[in-house]
Amino acid sequence: MCSAVRYPAFDVSSLPEPSSVLVTGGAGYIGSHAVLSLLEAGHRVTIVDTLARGHLAAVEALRGHGELHFVQADCGNQDAIRHLLQEQSVDTVLHFAAYCYVGESVQEPLRYYANNTGASMHLLMAVADSAVSRFIFSSTCSTYGEPGPDHLPITESCPQQPINPYGRSKLLVEQALSAVARQRQQADRPFACARLRYFNVAGADPAGRVGEDHDPETHLIPICLQAAAGRRDAVTVFGTDYDTPDGTCVRDYVHVSDLVDAHVAAMTALEDGDDRVWNVGTGHGTSVREILDSVRRVTGVDVSEIQGERRPGDPPSLFCDPSRIRDDLGWSARHVELDGIVQTAWNWMCTHPEGYGSAV
Ligand SMILES: NC(=O)c1ccc[n+]([C@@H]2O[C@H](COP(=O)([O-])OP(=O)(O)OC[C@H]3O[C@@H](n4cnc5c(N)ncnc54)[C@H](O)[C@@H]3O)[C@@H](O)[C@H]2O)c1
Repeated sequence: MCSAVRYPAFDVSSLPEPSSVLVTGGAGYIGSHAVLSLLEAGHRVTIVDTLARGHLAAVEALRGHGELHFVQADCGNQDAIRHLLQEQSVDTVLHFAAYCYVGESVQEPLRYYANNTGASMHLLMAVADSAVSRFIFSSTCSTYGEPGPDHLPITESCPQQPINPYGRSKLLVEQALSAVARQRQQADRPFACARLRYFNVAGADPAGRVGEDHDPETHLIPICLQAAAGRRDAVTVFGTDYDTPDGTCVRDYVHVSDLVDAHVAAMTALEDGDDRVWNVGTGHGTSVREILDSVRRVTGVDVSEIQGERRPGDPPSLFCDPSRIRDDLGWSARHVELDGIVQTAWNWMCTHPEGYGSAV
């Protein structure tokens, strides 16, 4: 049951003046959605992506939507980045590039520190010396670790105590970015940055131009949809005895297009000297069971589930208090109906059964 999803059009009047934007990780899931939105708003975009986890086909899908320049390079390649920042007169950087699998980060921590932290340090060194005046970093709720029930919903002042190398690798970048902001302020050179702590990102471009294609897939909604599409036998529910309303884990699912709008809102609002942090989520917790039920409704397939053991380090509930970003930027999630979020992801999967490898 693939069907049209109608949402209010994005309000382009809120966009800042056209900029030259460097998007690291722009061939990946969230980065490609951000590039699409930036191009449509008339910004000039340079993508830097190794393609280690991204897709050339995503870049191709973005062509024709505006002025796009793609460079296959590591964002930690200082020489390449310095050259690009100057050549493209970049004023804004959106830094999405990272490895993002929590489990893999536990198995291979150095890979995460080297790529997520190490490469980001080189990027920041190049940015610190450049004319870039706005920097937005993709941080994560994983930097909060396991905030107990006293910290729910999670505000930005919740202590950051990550429990895995992925979360730690991102927290270090947050701290280094603040150091760059201070350095630039001391040198009286305009700069502002934002650290956006995303919760669980889901869905796809409602028009189906780009979508989510991870291998392996670790996100719950696409995993459930893969089961609906017959690409998995069943979905394992890790823990059904948590202290949550239905016993399964609860997370905060924010639609990728809303997340992109939060970046645009931050780009617009930042003022010289700012070093801001905002949670980006709906503020609403959704359980694993509710996701499964939604996937069954949207797809019409009675997806099978297997009850599994709890996974170590999986907190029962993680959802944010989004009031700071609402009050500061006027941003709040527009895709609040779970079935609507799932529908966008399902539409993408129906038209791209092999992800970007599909001939469409
Ligand atoms: N997806 C989520 O639910 C979620 C939640 C919280 C935070 N985040 C953060 O959002 C960002 C984007 O996540 P995503 O889901 O789009 O991931 P993704 O894997 O789809 O995209 C990441 C992209 O970065 C590229 N990349 C990785 N290391 C690179 C490097 N050193 N130089 C250049 N390119 C590099 C990959 O090839 C890939 O195209 C990440 O920083 C992640 O930590 C994601």
